[in-house]
Amino acid sequence: MTTTNWTEKYRPTYFIDIRGQELAVEKIKEFIRKFRKGEKAIILHGPSGTGKTAMAYVAAKEIHSELFELNASDLRNSQKLREILSPATKQKSLTKKGKIILVDEVDGISEVDRGGVTELIRLIESTSHPIIITANDIWGKKFSELRKKAELVQLKEIDYRTIKNVMIEILRKERKFIDNDILTNIAIRAKGDLRAAINDLQTAASLEDPSQILFDERNKEMDIFTALRLIFKGKPDKSTLRLFDSINMPIDQILLWIEENIPAEYQGEELAKAYDMLSKVDIFKRRIYRQQYWRFLVYENALLSYGVSSAKTNEKTGFTSYKKPTRILKIWLNNRRIEKKKSIAKKYARYVHVGEKRALREFPTIKQFLIKPEVQKELRLSEEEVEYLNKIEQ
Ligand SMILES: Nc1ncnc2c1ncn2[C@@H]1O[C@H](COP(=O)(O)OP(=O)(O)OP(=O)(O)O)[C@@H](O)[C@H]1O
Ligand SMILES: [Mg+2]
Repeated sequence: MTTTNWTEKYRPTYFIDIRGQELAVEKIKEFIRKFRKGEKAIILHGPSGTGKTAMAYVAAKEIHSELFELNASDLRNSQKLREILSPATKQKSLTKKGKIILVDEVDGISEVDRGGVTELIRLIESTSHPIIITANDIWGKKFSELRKKAELVQLKEIDYRTIKNVMIEILRKERKFIDNDILTNIAIRAKGDLRAAINDLQTAASLEDPSQILFDERNKEMDIFTALRLIFKGKPDKSTLRLFDSINMPIDQILLWIEENIPAEYQGEELAKAYDMLSKVDIFKRRIYRQQYWRFLVYENALLSYGVSSAKTNEKTGFTSYKKPTRILKIWLNNRRIEKKKSIAKKYARYVHVGEKRALREFPTIKQFLIKPEVQKELRLSEEEVEYLNKIEQ
């Protein structure tokens, strides 16, 4: 089931919706008010997810203007720039709408598009529309001229209490409830990034047990939900191949998660391709186990990550609430348990010279004997096997 991202749904509309950035809001209001008197451009800079892009949209909305976005290649395209600049006055009288120009993420302009910065400076000098520029980091040398041409306004990391309040308001509107401690945790670990917090909140709200969202933080690892999102929604690249390195989960279990959630994301052709990848994984898996070809693990990993990710034609947007592979997971865990029981019975059988099958059958009885540490040592049981015995003992 795909729903909209809460970050989109609760995107600020008016200045009053922008939280924790009072000073910056004042400055941009003033910039718009005084625009005619010289100041042509403003640079909103600061960390991710703090409201820079949102603020540009809000500014346009507040003064009933159209927001005109320019990217690096537009900037180098002087024809396009002229189009934007020259007919502006005429258009204005037609649509009765002013324009605000947004150059978003100017620090993303690559070396190749470097000329773009020069064009941008030229644009600032000649513009009849306010220009809003955003950046995470504006201190690079290549922006030294640009910095002189615009007012710099820094957005700060958003205080965790403000983040928490925003989250509570969203939950209220969604008619959902999440434990206060979990909210505090999400808010703190967002480190001032409200977008990250809202994304985590949406994930938490979609989980049967929202506290699960916090587990990955403890291990400083990526959670499976993020990994699924990256695989199913994103464009596969080199980093996709390494994705599973940062998940603390055996590959077999990752496979179950992917299998369970393929139909939630893919349709038609994509679905067929993704399942095809899974069947290939299965082939490798069998070879790995039968022939102990451990290097096939690499293929298994690649098919599951890159393979499944590339089954789609286009990147996907929106929010999908992924499901835990309940039924299959149980089977898997159960198989693992049976596996352990078998290996213990085998060791026992060898030691006392009885058949393995008999040892398995008599497991409930011999268990009493097997829980003794000295016996475990004598039989050379592995840690996992000991753990299994302790568990069934309780
Ligand atoms: N100050 C804020 N007040 C209210 N909502 C915010 C604020 N900052 C971020 N958000 C939420 O996070 C989303 C993303 O914010 P935005 O796109 O403005 O971040 P940004 O500062 O431009 O980040 P980046 O540097 O990654 O581009 C918004 O749609 C909104 O839901
Ligand atoms: Mg932005």
